[in-house]
Amino acid sequence: MLRALVVLTLALSSATAFHTLRLTPQRVFGTSLKMATKLTQDELKKMVGYKAVDDHVKSGMVVGLGTGSTAYFAVERVGQKLASGELKDIVAIPTSIRTKEQAESLNIPLVTLDTHSRLDVAIDGADLVDPALNLVKGGGGALFREKIVEASADKFIVIVDQSKIVDALGPAFPLPIECLPFCIEHTMRNLEALPAMQGAKAVLRRGSSANNKVDGEEIAISDNNCYLVDMHFDEPIKDPVALADQINKVVGTVEHGLFVGMTTSVIIAGEDGITVKDA
Ligand code: 5RP
Repeated sequence: MLRALVVLTLALSSATAFHTLRLTPQRVFGTSLKMATKLTQDELKKMVGYKAVDDHVKSGMVVGLGTGSTAYFAVERVGQKLASGELKDIVAIPTSIRTKEQAESLNIPLVTLDTHSRLDVAIDGADLVDPALNLVKGGGGALFREKIVEASADKFIVIVDQSKIVDALGPAFPLPIECLPFCIEHTMRNLEALPAMQGAKAVLRRGSSANNKVDGEEIAISDNNCYLVDMHFDEPIKDPVALADQINKVVGTVEHGLFVGMTTSVIIAGEDGITVKDA
């Protein structure tokens, strides 16, 4: 149950438009509880997932559905609003097999980029967000489908809790890179040797493809039948744009989890409320 009064204030930052909103739990969740206690992480994720849909998804839109434990709640909200009739004529493009399955279970009509090359909006989580709203994504292994869908959206709305906000990308979360299986050790060596990689160590993901924990022996296989390599940094990435460019030139890579210059807005849930940062 919901247990907090959520505070939103307005502020400005020089690099990005930045505002915080004051919401009550009643407005966010439709309950009449008034007790002010701490929200759980799942409640925070639900709050930003629902807010992203409420603020950005309108009837008739083509909507990109992200992947992960935060995006889950945005998908849930789209399903609820379609079922209630509040939203009509939505079609959606999922960014992973598991999001496709969730959307199907909620009777959300699905299409693909083959029939709909432009999306009105895409909503997704992230693993890290820097002050310029550049992202690391792909902790859940869906980075290729996320990037191809989100790069095709007029608006890309990122939903995170405060723990994902960092001063610089790098040490706080490894950078995933999807690679073809052919001669993967060679590709990993070439990735490690990139100047902008700053000596980061390449680790082949094993076990579940949906996280970067060591939870199995077998090499993890992505939705696209590829491998996932997680680059571990000791230092902040100095130049994400240069790094993205250099990775793109390594033969054998499919896509990387640096999402540079793609974000429209980030909706951030923290203990003190919801903050929205616009690019
Ligand atoms: C999946 C992703 C996710 O968006 C990212 O890992 C964040 O997930 P969560 O909301 O579960 O923390 O990039 O590939």
